Amino acid sequence: MPEPLLAMEDVTAGYLGDIDVLRNVSLSVHAGRISGLIGLNGAGKSTLMKTLCGFLPPKSGRVTMAGRDISGKASHTMIDDGLWYIPQESSLFPYLTVAENLRLALEGRRRQFGDVIEARYADTLERFPVLKEKLAAQAGDLSGGQQKSLEFAKAYMVRPKVCLIDEPSIGLAPRVATEIFEWIGRFAESGMGILLVDHNVRRVVSMSNHIYVMSLGEITAEGSPEDFAGDLHAQVREWLGINF
Ligand SMILES: Nc1ncnc2c1ncn2[C@@H]1O[C@H](COP(=O)(O)OP(=O)(O)OP(=O)(O)O)[C@@H](O)[C@H]1O
Ligand SMILES: [Mg+2]
Repeated sequence: MPEPLLAMEDVTAGYLGDIDVLRNVSLSVHAGRISGLIGLNGAGKSTLMKTLCGFLPPKSGRVTMAGRDISGKASHTMIDDGLWYIPQESSLFPYLTVAENLRLALEGRRRQFGDVIEARYADTLERFPVLKEKLAAQAGDLSGGQQKSLEFAKAYMVRPKVCLIDEPSIGLAPRVATEIFEWIGRFAESGMGILLVDHNVRRVVSMSNHIYVMSLGEITAEGSPEDFAGDLHAQVREWLGINF
């Protein structure tokens, strides 16, 4: 296995004083591959993503991107390291238009992206036709499915090396959820490394190259989808109390 693009090494982190939400967590994401993370509500999955992209500094351990230590680096610099985050909650500016939301991340870095903004913008609108008809609408006025498409279109504009995707299908109609999962597959095929969290465990297991199971802030099991067909599958069902 080549060196991971993004790695969390033995990280302990938490929000308050001595309450550790993540405990000695190690996990990695490789180019063109999907790492899946499953666990019950409150296990610490979103906290793990926030720690990876700098919203929460690790108390110990480290986060590396292409071997370079980025632990605790301010989250607004993640784009410079090739890291992008599609959070469980919205990252859109509801009072800005669809067009403004789409262009914002790259407009703020004209020196880095100035030459590619227009071409990427045109390409993105071709690939997300639902947004093309809504460019002047405020993002907050879009339907839930359209807002999620806008989140993915933003990531498509940025083309990060690694994308962290937290609960993308929550609240979406099945047809829209299927489209969103297709986008995740396309992102990985294009070479992006993906860390995917979703409550649709069956989907995460079938899409991922490597799966991590998190329970009470610790990684309690990991393996390939094939591993989950045998004993581990039964174990995970038991741990998670989910039928899949
Ligand atoms: N901002 C915060 N301040 C303090 N504690 C928090 C904060 N956010 C989350 N927590 C706590 O951290 C723990 C892990 O929460 P987290 O949101 O990471 O879980 P999760 O696995 O993403 O759950 P879900 O499946 O519900 O999204 C929970 O006990 C939660 O109450
Ligand atoms: Mg969460």
